Amino acid sequence: MPLPFIAEYLVKGVPGLPSGWKILQAATVVAVIALVKWISTGISNKAERKLHGKVVIMTGGTSGIGAATALSLAQRGAQLVLLVHQSQKDLFLLDYIEDLRERSGNEMIYAEQVDLSSLFSIRQFATKWIDNAPPRRLDMIVLCGSTLTPPGKARVLTSEGLEENWMVNYLANFHLLSILSPAIRAQPPDRDVRVIFTTCSAYVNSPAIDDGSEALKNKDWSTSKAYTRSKYALMVFGHAFQKHLESYKRPDGAPMNARVLFADPGYCRTPGMRRYLTRGTLWGLALYLILWQNVWLLLKSPEGGAQSLLYASMEATLGRGHGSRLIKECREIDFARKDITDEKIAKKLWEGSEKLIERVEREEAVKRALQKKEREELEKSRNSAEPGTSKMDSNSSTETKTTKSRRQRKGK
Ligand SMILES: NC(=O)c1ccc[n+]([C@@H]2O[C@H](COP(=O)([O-])OP(=O)(O)OC[C@H]3O[C@@H](n4cnc5c(N)ncnc54)[C@H](OP(=O)(O)O)[C@@H]3O)[C@@H](O)[C@H]2O)c1
Repeated sequence: MPLPFIAEYLVKGVPGLPSGWKILQAATVVAVIALVKWISTGISNKAERKLHGKVVIMTGGTSGIGAATALSLAQRGAQLVLLVHQSQKDLFLLDYIEDLRERSGNEMIYAEQVDLSSLFSIRQFATKWIDNAPPRRLDMIVLCGSTLTPPGKARVLTSEGLEENWMVNYLANFHLLSILSPAIRAQPPDRDVRVIFTTCSAYVNSPAIDDGSEALKNKDWSTSKAYTRSKYALMVFGHAFQKHLESYKRPDGAPMNARVLFADPGYCRTPGMRRYLTRGTLWGLALYLILWQNVWLLLKSPEGGAQSLLYASMEATLGRGHGSRLIKECREIDFARKDITDEKIAKKLWEGSEKLIERVEREEAVKRALQKKEREELEKSRNSAEPGTSKMDSNSSTETKTTKSRRQRKGK
């Protein structure tokens, strides 16, 4: 009979069971972890809007926050045009689009090759879009594409000679929207059109931008300066772009129905963030994996980051009113820097950007023309060499014939 056992349990308690104090300590630790996780997860979007039939152009829709946003928009029926830098024949891209279609149950997802580091590539896409007559339907532009040079890495220049952060994070959006502006303004007045910029709270640390030329200089360049400056410029431009839209007098006399919204997703576990934290190194990646539980605890998931973008896409009240708005944690907040709305700064930046684009595009056009000429000349010389080769062949065959007849004459 196990009576002595039972008696011992009753008198001394269950062996190995922690004391009340230890249970309290463990419960506190779990509660703190749960609280930190709850805070870092952020607020979920509650706004809903039917997106069936709505046409959305999107950059950065293949990774991180952009990919999560693309999936949610597609699940709600939006027709997505993803601007990607891979070729449309790229196997990974084809696989990604197929997967997105399957998971969202939406076949209306397409990709267009647009390299955000190339003004030429952006112009090719945007002019093709606006050349359409009548103007194509366009309900939303979601700008999620971005880059960030990992700390400790060298400054990167694009093939057109521009600093990469400035080009991809700011100038690409400036160029794209400047060309698409007539297509945005031409949308019927009953349509709720939104341009959503993805920003980052790091913009508050940006140095002054002036006309943007500082961003292209090698002197004093650093990863953080390049990134924060590009995000700050994006916000100054976005605010000015809203004013530019509002200043347009529609032929139908209706008020402007296009709205600029900034969405700050908060810090998230995305490929971009991983590249930043690991400094783009293998040892950094090893450390990242070892500390994964901390990353998981402190950073949002890409889906969590997408919530503010989804709120900006769907909240009905954001489709009305004047001026641009900043969304963070699914609610409207004020700009942390008042100079975002400074008209003088915006004008200087806008004019500087236009001049820069004009200069680079002209130089690139000359380069392309020279390259084309070289190619044509090479082709010409190759073509003229070919009949020459056949001449040589025929010469050699003539020679052979001559030699043969000579031999025959000599009776050999
Ligand atoms: N992650 C964060 O913690 C955080 C915090 C605040 C703000 N944000 C902002 O949220 C947005 C998304 O961030 P994320 O971390 O999700 O970014 P990410 O994972 O680095 O993804 C960036 C996207 O941009 C695309 N892209 C980069 N260079 C391109 C180019 N030259 N041409 C075309 N596409 C290009 C990438 O395409 P590929 O995948 O094909 O390279 C990718 O789809 C960014 O604007 C970022 O500044 C992020």
